[in-house]
Amino acid sequence: MLAKREIPFFNYPAVFAADSEEIMASIGAVLARGAYIMQAELTDFETQLADYVGLKHVIGVGDGTMAILLPLLTCDLRPGDEVILPSHTFVASAAAIHHAGGTPVPVDCRADHLIDADSVRAALTDKTRGIMPVQLNGRTAAMDPILELAEQRNLFIVEDSCQALGSTYKERPAGSFGVAGAISFYPSKTLGCLGDGGAVITDDDAVADAVRSLRDHGREASGEVSRWGFNTRLDNVQAAVLNIKLKSYDKSISHRRRLAGIYEERLAEVEQLLLPPGPESSADHFDIYQNYEIEAESRDLLRQHLAENGVHTILQWGGMAVHQFSRLGFDQTLPYTERMVDRFMLLPMNTSLSDDDIHYICDQIVAFYES
Ligand SMILES: Cc1ncc(COP(=O)(O)O)c(C=O)c1O
Repeated sequence: MLAKREIPFFNYPAVFAADSEEIMASIGAVLARGAYIMQAELTDFETQLADYVGLKHVIGVGDGTMAILLPLLTCDLRPGDEVILPSHTFVASAAAIHHAGGTPVPVDCRADHLIDADSVRAALTDKTRGIMPVQLNGRTAAMDPILELAEQRNLFIVEDSCQALGSTYKERPAGSFGVAGAISFYPSKTLGCLGDGGAVITDDDAVADAVRSLRDHGREASGEVSRWGFNTRLDNVQAAVLNIKLKSYDKSISHRRRLAGIYEERLAEVEQLLLPPGPESSADHFDIYQNYEIEAESRDLLRQHLAENGVHTILQWGGMAVHQFSRLGFDQTLPYTERMVDRFMLLPMNTSLSDDDIHYICDQIVAFYES
């Protein structure tokens, strides 16, 4: 009998404890200056993150959802214009398309749980204006076929890269393939802040200027108002925290990739499971493992067994795909996604976990299928 461990899905206090002194000191310094909105820490963070991802512009905004919406607003969608996105995503991706004036068209995913280019091709109509790949679970989709379709049909690409900061495909970073990418700093994200936060990343000067204005009431640096905007700026206190976290971001990605390697090594032979691609499985992809999402036979019983043994798991998006929200008007059948949502689950994956924790989780999974 294995000694029981308690492994929460995400241990917020433990993640905070890792650099709590530095965080509290930097918050204290911001408060002492009364520097709350659009101050030096925000500019510093935007410069440092731009340097980190290798793109010209980072614009800090209120959350990841606004980071998807604001670049979409620069694409001039008209009523009836369609934007294709994977159904396996947070409803926020589809909501941003809706609020930008377009119609979200969910499509199927592949075995790596990312957008399927064949399904995109099948969904193209004369109303299609754009594609929104969602770089899910810390992986950038195989972008070549998507870029090819976008080029052939003159479609824009806006990436929901909320879960993929630092991930690459063929050495190009998530968020760099189209008009712009969206990043979320939700507390459980790989780069998490102490509440809501997000950023738009882009190489396009005109898009960057428009997003800077949109996040600040439509104002220009001169104070003139050039468009209808929003109040959705990344708080300076959050930027101060993110500046600290960014310093150790590469280390935290290495930690996650090491944990993914242990899952891979221990569970690859368990035939009742489908694992995400391993960290060394392809030279084209550098995955950062925001999540470790598996498919499992007898998923609900496995979750119950794990919970009884102290291991807490979750189902992304409450266990549903976007096209299944019929009250939003969707009425489609997407075979891979529908089979997947009956089988998918997230195993614990974050920097507060030790190698031994992952071995314990794997022991429990192996014991479940052997019993
Ligand atoms: C894929 C995806 N899209 C969009 C979002 C929205 O980000 P936020 O919660 O920061 O608005 C999230 C994160 O929650 C996400 O995981």
